[in-house]
Amino acid sequence: MRVVILFGTEMGTAETVADCIADELSGCDVSIYDMMDFDPADLTAEELLVVVCSTYGDGDLPTGAEPFFDALDATRPDLTGLRFAVFGLGDSVYGDTFNRGGEIAAEKLTERGAIQIGEHARHDGSSEVKPKDMAREWAAALPIPVTQAG
Ligand SMILES: Cc1cc2nc3c(=O)[nH]c(=O)nc-3n(C[C@H](O)[C@H](O)[C@H](O)COP(=O)(O)O)c2cc1C
Repeated sequence: MRVVILFGTEMGTAETVADCIADELSGCDVSIYDMMDFDPADLTAEELLVVVCSTYGDGDLPTGAEPFFDALDATRPDLTGLRFAVFGLGDSVYGDTFNRGGEIAAEKLTERGAIQIGEHARHDGSSEVKPKDMAREWAAALPIPVTQAG
């Protein structure tokens, strides 16, 4: 099936993770975009959306993700039927705001009628786990809808 991977980043880790996920899903028709360059109006329910998003400020979206979610809030598209999965990035040293970026992304898409699938991944920059390794494992376990697989 068609998979659209959107990454929202400040320093580039989310982009690296997005590339790993694309490698793992090479059996699908995968496209990767920086959220900066992607218009929510281009989302369709026929594809699986994968959001890779870090966290900045005090539990905020990274700068790169803001235009996409600002446009989503402004245009309020009906995303009913769209399935999405989230790989969030953060660091547990930030305490209560740990991984809020990916969580905000999931909340905003769910508000518009989209349905989250798979495990909501929360990478911790303070852990020994490399984001690339976690991303590959996570992507391999994604429940890609069978009916449209290919
Ligand atoms: C200034 C700054 C603020 C951050 N704030 C948070 C935060 O509130 N919560 C969190 O979980 N991680 C926070 N992080 C950690 C980043 O989200 C984490 O390092 C992530 O892997 C960066 O991904 P990126 O390179 O794609 O931007 C912060 C990092 C920096 C440098």
